[in-house]
Amino acid sequence: MQPVLRVSRPEEYFIEEEPYYEPVGNEIAVFEAAYRNGLPVLLKGPTGCGKTRFMEHMAWRLKRALITVSCHDDLTASDLVGRFLVKGGETIWVDGPLARAVRAGGICYLDEIVEARKDTTVVIHPLADDRRVLPMEKVGELLEASTDFCLTISYNPGYQSVLKDLKQSTRQRFVALEFNYPEAGLEQRIVEKETGVDPEQARRLVKFAHMTRNLKGQGLDEGASTRLLVHAAKLIVSGVAPVTACRSAIAQPLTDDADMLSAVYELSASLFLIGQIRSGTLGKQVGAALLKRDAEKPGNKA
Ligand SMILES: Nc1ncnc2c1ncn2[C@@H]1O[C@H](COP(=O)(O)OP(=O)(O)OP(=O)(O)O)[C@@H](O)[C@H]1O
Ligand SMILES: [Mg+2]
Repeated sequence: MQPVLRVSRPEEYFIEEEPYYEPVGNEIAVFEAAYRNGLPVLLKGPTGCGKTRFMEHMAWRLKRALITVSCHDDLTASDLVGRFLVKGGETIWVDGPLARAVRAGGICYLDEIVEARKDTTVVIHPLADDRRVLPMEKVGELLEASTDFCLTISYNPGYQSVLKDLKQSTRQRFVALEFNYPEAGLEQRIVEKETGVDPEQARRLVKFAHMTRNLKGQGLDEGASTRLLVHAAKLIVSGVAPVTACRSAIAQPLTDDADMLSAVYELSASLFLIGQIRSGTLGKQVGAALLKRDAEKPGNKA
């Protein structure tokens, strides 16, 4: 067999600057304790609630390389472990991201693990229990993970079908941390700090998000995530009118359903246009017309 060259550049995956992360509970302490004990971690939670940002923050805090893999239904065990490639007539072994993280003593973050093919879970099982080894069948090697290595997976319990649920034998290997959207005051702070939007607009965005979250299961599959609020706030800071920002950055990404869209538009108008009327930034006539229309709606009459 030809000589095998392994390619591994962990330094590419170090995070130099502190990623901004607002702790929601004791997740930092629990993650650190899991890491010190060599226990793998499972992050559960809806889209856009801070899981990836948390991982970036923890990698920075623990001074470890962070190697992220977005799992999809074509992802095979070889994609994670590595494969032989032919380059210039030479056969080269190239480590996959999981093997790179194990060798470098880094953090491997498998995002949306349930999307991956079933053979990938076979590969992570011996790494995720107290053996902490990665079997590399193609090179006949059993790679032992150092104490610095950490396996983290994420999973969104809301979206999975029964077929795609995590098996008990997988989930029972992990310390699980549950994530959700932060409470209103904290979410407002995140939106402000991430974007520089003024506090009043951030407060309204969070209020709007809560309105959409209340529509979950009643026409919307999911309410607005913190990510969408950050997007809308960025548009506002760049000069886009708040109602337009809510429409483009929040309502449209949430749904294609025409009725739901107009309901969500109305919610944002009720928050942002009324606010503009009160602050005098909307033309008096338009404002009066909107207020009159609202007052005449059935159920709004005194
Ligand atoms: N606790 C937090 N501290 C700081 N920023 C946050 C926090 N939670 C959410 N954010 C903001 O929300 C955005 C989306 O978060 P993130 O990408 O981490 O979501 P996620 O949970 O990984 O979503 P997905 O499951 O879709 O990958 C971040 O880029 C950041 O702006
Ligand atoms: Mg993510």
